[in-house]
Amino acid sequence: VKKKPPTSQPSPPAAKPWEAAQGHGSACDPLAARFVESLSYDTRLYRHDIAGSIAHARMLAKVGLITADDLGAIERGLDEIRAEIDAQGEAWPGWRIELEDVHMCIEAALIEKVGDAGRKLHTGRSRNDQVALDLRLWANDAVDALDASFHRLYAAFINLAARDGRIVMPSYTHLQRAQPIVVGAELLAWLEAFGRCGDRLATLMLMDRDNPLGSGAIAGSSLALDREATTQALEIFEQPTASSLDATASRDVAIDFVYALAMTAQWLSRWAEQWIIYASTEFGFITLDERYTTGSSMMPQKRNPDMLELIRGRCGNVYGHLVALLTICKGLTIGYNRDLQEDKRHLFAAYDTVRDGLAMAARIVATTHFNEARIADGLDRGFLDATSIAEYLVTRGLPFRTAHQIVGRLVKRCLDRGVPRLADLKIEEFNTVCRDAGAGGDACGKDVYDWLGPANVVDRYRSAGNAGTSGFEAQLAVWRKRLADTAADIRC
Ligand code: ARG
Repeated sequence: VKKKPPTSQPSPPAAKPWEAAQGHGSACDPLAARFVESLSYDTRLYRHDIAGSIAHARMLAKVGLITADDLGAIERGLDEIRAEIDAQGEAWPGWRIELEDVHMCIEAALIEKVGDAGRKLHTGRSRNDQVALDLRLWANDAVDALDASFHRLYAAFINLAARDGRIVMPSYTHLQRAQPIVVGAELLAWLEAFGRCGDRLATLMLMDRDNPLGSGAIAGSSLALDREATTQALEIFEQPTASSLDATASRDVAIDFVYALAMTAQWLSRWAEQWIIYASTEFGFITLDERYTTGSSMMPQKRNPDMLELIRGRCGNVYGHLVALLTICKGLTIGYNRDLQEDKRHLFAAYDTVRDGLAMAARIVATTHFNEARIADGLDRGFLDATSIAEYLVTRGLPFRTAHQIVGRLVKRCLDRGVPRLADLKIEEFNTVCRDAGAGGDACGKDVYDWLGPANVVDRYRSAGNAGTSGFEAQLAVWRKRLADTAADIRC
C-alpha cells in the first residue's frame, strides 16, 4: 500500500473519537494533524495489524470479555477490511489521515461495519503494544522475503563461478597486485560475506521470540487477559514478553534488523565498488550487461555502471537509517514515547533499499562476464608468483625470512635488467642470488619453474580455504550443497 499524501483537510474536532472527551484535540489544527500522523508510512502494516487484532479478539472471547457473537462480527469485519485493502490499496476509503495511523483507521472502519462489537476490540489493548506487535510480525515476514532475495543472489554467484570461476586473475592487497587466484575464489568470497549477512539477519531475528501483545499502554491490564493464548495463536512467538514496560519501550527488534541490513549494505557496496573498478577501461576484467549500465547525456560513447554506483551510494542511506534509529531511542524514558513512531520510516526505508539492492545485485551477477583474454594479457605484470618462489625455497629447507630476501633480490634483478617475469630468469641466476644471500649455490632445482607463472601457482595452493583451484572447487561444492539443502530455486 503506497502512502497517501497528508493533504486532506482534517474533519471536525470529533474526528479523533479518542480525543473528543478532552475537547477539540489535535484534529483541529491541520498542521498538528499532519505533524502527528504516521498513516503516510505505516499502512504497510495492515495485514499484521489485522492478524494481531484477530488473535486479540479470539483471546477476549476465550476469557469471556466479549461474546462469541462479538467475536464473529469482529472477525467478519476485519476479514472484509483486509480484502478491501488488498483490492484497493492506497485508494481504500478507510485511510483517513485525521485518524493518525493504520491502527485507528482499521478500528474506525471496523466500528463503522459492525458497531458495538468493534468498540470492544481495544479491550485490554493499547496502540503501544499493538504497534510493537505489528512491527515484530512485519519483521518476521520481511526476513522471509529477504531470505528469498539472498538466495537468488547466492545462486547468481554460484552460476557465474561455475562458468567463469577457473579463469586465473590477480588478487590485490592495498589495490596493488598480490598473488594469483582464480575468479571463482573471489566470487565465492563475496558469496561467503553475503551468506553471513543472510545468517546474521535470521539469527538476530531469532533472538526475540517474545509476544508484546497484552502489555497494554505501559502497565498491562487489570482484566484477565490470556497472553499465552495470543502467543500460541500468533505462532511466531515462544512466550509473552516478561515486562510490559520494556515491551512497549523497546525497539531492539527494529534496530537489530536495520543493523543486519546495514551490514548487508556494506557488503553490497564493497562488491559494487570492486566491480565498478573491474568494469573500467583500465581494468576491463568484466563486461556488465547493457541493461545495468546507462549512457551519458553528452558523451555518446559512455556506458556507465550506474546500478553498481547506486548500490554503493545507497549504503550511505542505510547507515543513516541505523544511526537515526539508535539516536531516536537514546534519550527515551522507559515506556512508550511518540518518538518511537519515527522508527518505521527508517525500518521500512532501510528494508526497501536493501531488498532492491539484493535484487539488482542478483541480476547484475547473473548477466556479467569475466574477460579471460583481457585478464590474461596483464597476468605477467607485477610478479604475482614471487611469494610462490619464496615458499618453494622453504620446501628446499631455507628459513622463510631468508627466502623472502632472496626473492626480493630476484625481483630487483628482473626490474634492473628489464626482465618481465621471474620465469624468464635462468636457473643459474636463481642460484647466484641464493648464493649471494648465503643460502648455497644449489638451493633451486629445475623444478623451480613448476612454482612459477600464475597458472602453476593457483594449482599449488593447498591450505584450507585457499583462493586457488583446490580452494575454489571445495568452496563451490559446499555452496552447491548448501543451496540444494535449502531447496532454493537456483535459477536466476
Ligand atoms: N502510530 C503510533 C506509532 O507508530 C502508534 C502508537 C501511538 N501510541 C500512542 N500512545 N500515541 O508509534
